[in-house]
Amino acid sequence: MSGDNKKIIYSAMQPSGIPSLGNYLGALKNWKNLQDEYNCIFAAANMHAITVRQDPTELRQRTRDLIALFLSIGLDPEKHIIYVQSDVKAHAEIAWILNCFTYMGELNRMTQFKDKSAKHADNINAGLYTYPVLMAGDILLYQSDLVPVGADQKQHLEICRDIAGRFNSVYGNVFKIPDPYIPKAGARIMGLQNPEKKMSKSESDNMNNVIYILDEPNVIKNKIKRAVTDSDAEVRYGEDKPGISNLLNIYSSVTGKSPEESEAEFKGFGYGEFKEAVGEAVVKELEPIQSKFKEYSADRAYVEKVMKEGAEKAAYIAQKTLSKVKKKVGFPVYK
Ligand code: TRP
Repeated sequence: MSGDNKKIIYSAMQPSGIPSLGNYLGALKNWKNLQDEYNCIFAAANMHAITVRQDPTELRQRTRDLIALFLSIGLDPEKHIIYVQSDVKAHAEIAWILNCFTYMGELNRMTQFKDKSAKHADNINAGLYTYPVLMAGDILLYQSDLVPVGADQKQHLEICRDIAGRFNSVYGNVFKIPDPYIPKAGARIMGLQNPEKKMSKSESDNMNNVIYILDEPNVIKNKIKRAVTDSDAEVRYGEDKPGISNLLNIYSSVTGKSPEESEAEFKGFGYGEFKEAVGEAVVKELEPIQSKFKEYSADRAYVEKVMKEGAEKAAYIAQKTLSKVKKKVGFPVYK
């Protein structure tokens, strides 16, 4: 990982449920493609996950499953770093220090905090509030150049840049200021039943709204068959056709074809045939991942080895930044 001039990309996903097709097309698939050009660090953000109440056994299992899934989509733990956030102590340590460089006024503006406190009104804990600070620490510990973020995390990356800039202006150049990484291609995938809203893994009100990466092929096909469309019966993009546009986007994303190509391909198709083709394309993309996942998740020893080795590599880098930070703020330095 060291010794070359490649930039560092950092990203993380919370182990809070099986990732959706939206998570896959919007994030994971891109992560895989970043591996040639960048030095990548990918984490399971389980410390973020406990800002809402979790079942401990399930959380532990999901964390291992998320690492197994990273491996299944082709993230390479030999060339890159794949690890679990809580395995690297530096995250907790830097989060405290950065808390002291973050204003409540800044945190009060975070829209995700406002949304989540409305949703979990019985558990508006301080962790939920300082969540963006923990996230800033993730990114800054590794001197990351770039962070791929979706629209919902943009504000968190901005506050990360502000915190880093503030710290640097007091103590000199301690942190690299990260830039957002905007993928060249990749559409926002919307819900199948509610195509006005992002397809989200935590959106469990309607089972048919979300495709999960590990859904059985016939389940995937059925969900797509039931996707909301419109009464116009023409397969084309249109602002008045959010359901069909979303299915076209899904098709383009999984096949790698351009939106225009995909639209042309289905000219004259009925909705039934079109949905069938989309279903097949999605199944074709996910099946190899699912069979790899079966293998990896059956080999707990291997997955845990990846986790342990990843944590060691991550801790080595994180520690360097953390030591510098502790020295700067005036904590003891021993000879
Ligand atoms: N908060 C992010 C999410 O829920 C996950 C995350 C944690 C993250 N730390 C990060 C993403 C650092 C990018 C960089 O999607």
